[in-house]
Amino acid sequence: MSKNKNILQDTFGRDHTYLRISLIECCNLRCTYCMPEEGVQLSPKSHIMTYEEIYDIAKIFVKHGVNKIRLTGGEPLVRKDFKVVLEKLATLPVELSITSNAVIIDRFIDVLKTNNVKNINVSLDSLNREKFKHITRRAEFDKVYNNILLLVKEGFNVKVNTVLINGFNDNEIIDFINFTKEHPISVRFIEFMPFDGNKWDMSKMVSYAEVMNYVENSFSKEDIIRLADAPNDTSKNYKIKGYKGSFAIISSVTNPFCDSCNRLRLTANGQLKNCLFSSTESDLLTLLRAGRPIEPAIEKAVKVKLKMRGGMDSLKKLEKPELHTKNRSMITIGG
Ligand code: 5AD
Ligand code: SF4
Repeated sequence: MSKNKNILQDTFGRDHTYLRISLIECCNLRCTYCMPEEGVQLSPKSHIMTYEEIYDIAKIFVKHGVNKIRLTGGEPLVRKDFKVVLEKLATLPVELSITSNAVIIDRFIDVLKTNNVKNINVSLDSLNREKFKHITRRAEFDKVYNNILLLVKEGFNVKVNTVLINGFNDNEIIDFINFTKEHPISVRFIEFMPFDGNKWDMSKMVSYAEVMNYVENSFSKEDIIRLADAPNDTSKNYKIKGYKGSFAIISSVTNPFCDSCNRLRLTANGQLKNCLFSSTESDLLTLLRAGRPIEPAIEKAVKVKLKMRGGMDSLKKLEKPELHTKNRSMITIGG
């Protein structure tokens, strides 16, 4: 039973208290699994939410029990008024966090601290400079690597997101885990997921079981410690005995965690997605601009949320390419 009668509960009893807001569709990297090679059709600037609109919409979610907001992109820090957006949202009673590629995050340390952002997720798929350039189509490895160390030094709680792709970076799993020996970060290995234009197929995915195989072949059983997962956690968490950091696996493909999903997503152009994989969206921004209430649309979107992965509730369905193209590319969802 939800305590707050306004809470955004769906028909499967899941309370939605976590909103992820994409601030911008642009990015200063071009990760192959996120951004289609031919680019994406960007929304006209006038269709992107202003900071006032982001704040007005967020306020309504907070009234309905949202207590956690994560800012994503594209790359959220390339938005010109990022500081203003953050300052507005920091006035709400929510835990604020951000997902960034960290290329320019060194310029935002003070802004993030002042506004009480403690949790920062950084996307980094390779510890090898050349491979990084290959996957992101940009030569920014050193900046990202140094900025991760800077964030740790500045006291942020840093998680590194690593999307594993078979034959590309699965041979770096142990290097990433060894990166946690001296640094108190959590590396999260993410099973590669299908989105429009990212040329996904099952054979490119490295599964939870395969990651654990690598780990068990490199460390002794007694040294691999299973950590407790937080409520609504999307990852299975582990650490190597004596290491300062930890590692985790996000198994959206082989072991989805939809049962405890508490997440809603707002795209930069003001569309509410009730699931990362949903093919339908609710246009909150048009309603807001017309001076109409957005609450009924939010409630309806929550009520029609499907049980698992936007309806792709089996591996068979996940493998149907026609189901991926009904969704957006990751760059315009924001992760
Ligand atoms: N599969 C899995 N994870 C992805 N991300 C982006 N695209 C994909 C994909 N196809 C993750 C990145 C980034 C986060 C926002 O989403 O790791 O850190
Ligand atoms: Fe940019 Fe992140 Fe997409 Fe890479 S995964 S292109 S860093 S938005």
